Amino acid sequence: MFFLVIFIFTCAAKAGLSLNVSNPCPSMCKCTPEETILCNRAGLKTLPGEIAASTISLNLSNNYLRILNTNTFRNLTFLHSLWLDGNNLTFLTPGTFHLLRLGMLNLGHNFITDLPNQLFEGLIQLKTMHLEANRITAVGCTFRGLLNLRNLYLNNNQISSISDSAFLYLNKLHFLHLSRNNLSSLPVRLFTELTKLKYVFLSHNPWRCDCSLLWFWRWTAARRAVIEGLDCTFLGPPNTTAPQQPRPGDLGDCTLPLELASEDKCRVADTSVAPKPPALPGQNVFQTHHICPCP
Ligand SMILES: *[C@@H]1O[C@H](CO)[C@@H](O)[C@H](O)[C@H]1NC(C)=O
Ligand SMILES: *[C@@H]1O[C@H](CO)[C@@H](O)[C@H](O)[C@H]1NC(C)=O
Ligand SMILES: *[C@@H]1O[C@H](CO)[C@@H](O)[C@H](O)[C@H]1NC(C)=O
Ligand SMILES: *[C@@H]1O[C@H](CO)[C@@H](O)[C@H](O)[C@H]1NC(C)=O
Ligand SMILES: *[C@@H]1O[C@H](CO)[C@@H](O)[C@H](O)[C@H]1NC(C)=O
Ligand SMILES: *[C@@H]1O[C@H](CO)[C@@H](O)[C@H](O)[C@H]1NC(C)=O
Repeated sequence: MFFLVIFIFTCAAKAGLSLNVSNPCPSMCKCTPEETILCNRAGLKTLPGEIAASTISLNLSNNYLRILNTNTFRNLTFLHSLWLDGNNLTFLTPGTFHLLRLGMLNLGHNFITDLPNQLFEGLIQLKTMHLEANRITAVGCTFRGLLNLRNLYLNNNQISSISDSAFLYLNKLHFLHLSRNNLSSLPVRLFTELTKLKYVFLSHNPWRCDCSLLWFWRWTAARRAVIEGLDCTFLGPPNTTAPQQPRPGDLGDCTLPLELASEDKCRVADTSVAPKPPALPGQNVFQTHHICPCP
């Protein structure tokens, strides 16, 4: 027993860490007294040993991680920041990020294609989500429940459809980055509840400038926000004398689409793809390109 104690003291002194046998620093990583673990650029293909439950900040960026399972971060109830950018992540399983105190999650620069609906459930304190530079093609109901989300980075993906209830309830969303995707339109009610939205970046998308974006023109006219990158001629600068009307000649045949009754397509949790609602006669011109993955 005595020798064991001596041994532990010696090791701890050599490693320059405070003595806590239950909290060893994973090899390949650096640990700081501020409960920060730095395993970035460590060549990791799998997660390093056990991570102390008291960890507040965990940097796993720029490694070769491919798989995270639902136990990976299970005990990290104090975790505030998690960097997983620049790895080889493709599929993520719901339950992986059940981290009630997490404020920042960086999943940028991976190979993520799909965002299952319950993937981010439990991230009730999350303020910043990085998903830029992945291979995401569609946004369904995955951001549901991120009630404190302020900054959402979805730029540099291949998103061509966004569910019209995708951002419903994100009442604190401030910054939305959708540049460099494959969007030709946006669903009519997409920003309805987002009273705090101040910065929207939309450049480098193949926007189709037709009546389906007329709602957007109205929305920008009524909003003091920095909205950049959706430059249809009829969308730019709104006529303040008659803010409800498009500029004469540009959209002569557009009638404003019906404001459909607010229907939350994400309410029922499901990952199946619902059939698209049938188009009403004469309404085709307003059909925006949206998906309804959540019946
Ligand atoms: C060692 O780590 C455990 C688990 O995180 C913690 O409860 C304990 O307070 C720590 N002890 C010291 C001396 O830091
Ligand atoms: C995490 O690691 C990346 C480099 O891989 C670095 O750019 C970033 O600043 C690190 N963040 C922290 C908080 O250490
Ligand atoms: C989480 O903590 C429990 C109890 O402290 C422990 O039995 C379990 O092995 C831990 N799980 C992980 C993945 O660290
Ligand atoms: C991870 O992705 C990089 C960049 O595409 C690739 O070169 C490498 O082979 C991948 N490694 C693993 C282990 O998947
Ligand atoms: C972009 O979206 C269109 C449908 O709007 C689709 O046909 C095309 O394959 C998409 N391109 C890429 C690169 O995802
Ligand atoms: C703005 O709307 C008013 C009233 O409809 C119209 O008289 C005026 O010509 C419009 N101005 C521009 C720049 O289109």
